[in-house]
Amino acid sequence: MSSDRNPLRLGSIAPDFEAETTKGHIKFHDFIGNSWVILFSHPADFTPVCTTELGVVARLQPKFDERNVKVIGLSANGLESHQEWIKDINEVNDVDLKFPIIADADRKISTLYDMLDYQDLTNLDAKGIPFTVRSVFIIDPKKTIRLTLSYPASTGRNFDEILRVVDSLQLGDKNRITTPANWKHGEKVIVHPSVTNEEAATLFPGFKTVKPYLRFATLPGTQPATI
Ligand code: BEZ
Repeated sequence: MSSDRNPLRLGSIAPDFEAETTKGHIKFHDFIGNSWVILFSHPADFTPVCTTELGVVARLQPKFDERNVKVIGLSANGLESHQEWIKDINEVNDVDLKFPIIADADRKISTLYDMLDYQDLTNLDAKGIPFTVRSVFIIDPKKTIRLTLSYPASTGRNFDEILRVVDSLQLGDKNRITTPANWKHGEKVIVHPSVTNEEAATLFPGFKTVKPYLRFATLPGTQPATI
């Protein structure tokens, strides 16, 4: 890999770091282990949209567990603030938030992951330093970045969509397929363009050719998702 390559591009190894989190000290690559990871930042503790987002993520915890996904949040505040805020998140959303949240008051990790807000001049701390935007990184067990997203501070994310991408990536890693627009787990997939018709006949019996470059298949044993 050339040294000037953006280390946050799809296909790059997620930069390693050490951090204090609400669940203790971590080394990020050790934390990933053999799991998939969703690393996501939000602007700040005790803010309204973030409070709803973290409640949604906490409620989705069983869906992440089913998919071997570890979730880890980050905001540019300290541990004590995070711990107090988690009490509010649990109360307001009637959840029991279990995933770690990184304390990044000095913005070391948010700088490493290019999460700081240079657009919204109201998304600043008391000293006028930018808070984080709503970044998402999906990282696979090889520590490779598979998805990046950046949402503005004012827009809460759709975490069902993030789970949908995990499903697509995990299925695509196991089968030579891609997934169409608005696809959901259990629906028809697309035969990967690199698969010949001869291979497709073996891999995807009964596949349907709409155009030579657009062939649909049903994967045996895929269960409709319970999102
Ligand atoms: C919020 O979470 O509501 C929020 C945070 C920072 C800027 C704007 C909105």
